[in-house]
Amino acid sequence: MRQQIPTRASSYSRSFMTACGPLRHGGFEWQDPQSEDEVVNVTFVDREGKRHPIRGKIGDNLMYLAHRYGIELEGACEASLACSTCHVYVNDDYFDALPEPEEKEEDMLDLAVFLKENSRLGCQIILSKDLEGMELVLPQATRNFYVDGHVPEPH
Ligand code: FES
Repeated sequence: MRQQIPTRASSYSRSFMTACGPLRHGGFEWQDPQSEDEVVNVTFVDREGKRHPIRGKIGDNLMYLAHRYGIELEGACEASLACSTCHVYVNDDYFDALPEPEEKEEDMLDLAVFLKENSRLGCQIILSKDLEGMELVLPQATRNFYVDGHVPEPH
């Protein structure tokens, strides 16, 4: 029997974030920059088109940084490359500045809904000075096929 794949629509519920304590992982991202030299400014554009400028720092994992500031970027597998719920669109200038995705990231992106040329997984983006000014747009929905203990097979 075919298992139904749930999708997370734009009405993403905050209850997920409160129900899943582990989303607060990534303690490093909860630390403020020690100096201006460390600061990396990024902007998230949410599903309603609202812009959220965020002051990150070198070494921050983009997904955990988003969690710190209440951006609705899920991250169901906690950066273990077993879901695509941290899917973001990276503006073109910065897309090319990112390291090439690993094969596993590409496999997960292949399973993402609303995939575009500039799609990446937010949990695989680590901030550096080269990314100063980067803009990340959240897709209209993400698919959560991740279940504890289940590792999706690439096709
Ligand atoms: S949080 Fe699952 S792949 Fe990024």
